[in-house]
Amino acid sequence: MRTIVTNGTIVNADGRVDADLAIKDGVIQAITPRSAGGITPGPDDVVIDATGCLVVPGGVDAHVHMQLDTGTTVSSDSFESGTIAAAHGGTTTIVDFAEQRAGGNVLQAFEKRMAEAEGQCVVDWALHQILGGVNEQALIDTRSLVEREGVASIKLFMAYPGRLYSDDGQILRALQMCADTGMMAMVHAENGLAIDVLVEQAIAAGNITPDFHSRTRPPELEAEAVHRAAVLSRVAGNAPLYIVHLSSSHALREVVEARSRGTNIFAETCPQYLHLSLEDHLGKGWPDGAAYICSTPLRSKHEHHHADLWEGLRVDQLAVVSTDHCPFCLREQKLANGESFNVVPNGIGGVEHRMDLVFQGVVAGHISAERWVEVCATAPARLFGLGKKGALREGMDADVVVYDPAKVHTLSVATHHMNLDHSAYEGMEVTGAVKTVVSRGDIIVDNGEFHGRAGRGKYLRRDVSQHVR
Ligand code: URP
Ligand code: ZN
Ligand code: ZN
Repeated sequence: MRTIVTNGTIVNADGRVDADLAIKDGVIQAITPRSAGGITPGPDDVVIDATGCLVVPGGVDAHVHMQLDTGTTVSSDSFESGTIAAAHGGTTTIVDFAEQRAGGNVLQAFEKRMAEAEGQCVVDWALHQILGGVNEQALIDTRSLVEREGVASIKLFMAYPGRLYSDDGQILRALQMCADTGMMAMVHAENGLAIDVLVEQAIAAGNITPDFHSRTRPPELEAEAVHRAAVLSRVAGNAPLYIVHLSSSHALREVVEARSRGTNIFAETCPQYLHLSLEDHLGKGWPDGAAYICSTPLRSKHEHHHADLWEGLRVDQLAVVSTDHCPFCLREQKLANGESFNVVPNGIGGVEHRMDLVFQGVVAGHISAERWVEVCATAPARLFGLGKKGALREGMDADVVVYDPAKVHTLSVATHHMNLDHSAYEGMEVTGAVKTVVSRGDIIVDNGEFHGRAGRGKYLRRDVSQHVR
């Protein structure tokens, strides 16, 4: 028995074709243009009619935080609920994080996170390794994860002093290890020491409303950290470097500058930095503004960040759009520690809406449908060593999304599947909607109905990406 996707337009990063697609045993068996006769289903075949629809690779969200323990609370989506939401939104692979803290053991941290996710995910999943305490043993252990567990990427923090922060010496040592192994170093690039001074001064002056989260994390301090990370990557021997949740024009300029010097640097942005702003969202005050507290922060709509980020996506200054999905319920979690911006857990939930929110760039003419596929699926798969994901080609995993480019719908807490009591995108009307989602040959979502099962998602061992060596 095969599954045949008929009558659609197949869109890959490198072009589109009116073609039928056959799936067998979880992989793509054939793609045949209709100009060459298409594929005729047999009597036992399951047929998915994609008339009027785009047929695209399942989304790869390379940056999510399911059930993230912050120390005071846990992000509200479990691996199960978060991957159900991902599936509804056309994302068939997520990459989350194992977290080693200062003084902690990397291998134990990894095992713990594996145990939390194992048997829970609806879609395929993998893990990056966070290093919150870089030392000699942590680097030896991390190096061993490539072979041992198929982990090809680490994450380092230039923010959050006293918690996950690494100083420049620690970052350099970790980047040297990445240059040597080919592991990708993801970096949260913000100058955490300077931010902490601004936070302290704002609080002393009584400036505690949600907008001060952004005002104490100015874009200059994001740009400075990107610049420093790029310099350290070069000094380390051109370590593969990936800037996470890039939010500002200032930081983007540093990426462009570093790339022009041959730095092995890539960057992602997130839907919140393409659609939301300091004034309209963080500026709502309490309680609603708390929903928009995330780091890096939302930026001013008067400073051209949105336009520059869309442009950066179009011309490949930005390689990827991930969500940094990190949901906290508004009253029980975001506001649990009181009404001061510095005690609100950081993060926005959005794993379900990434494909739709980035597709709005296609609708508006900022990017092509091919580029939408590239930044949401192909590039993250390639950069993070997910060789069977991110493209519709014979032999690849059959992760396939049938996407209706004309359907209009409204994002809302009333209809989303994330375990979250609000939506950062409440009431936003979007054009384009997921119709059917296939994960390794299984139809897991069809016309809004969920047919998946917790535990069917497979852990994906990854190899270092040839793309960055
Ligand atoms: O606000 C955010 N992004 N929270 C998640 C942790 C991080 O820094 O990525
Ligand atoms: Zn971060
Ligand atoms: Zn994050």
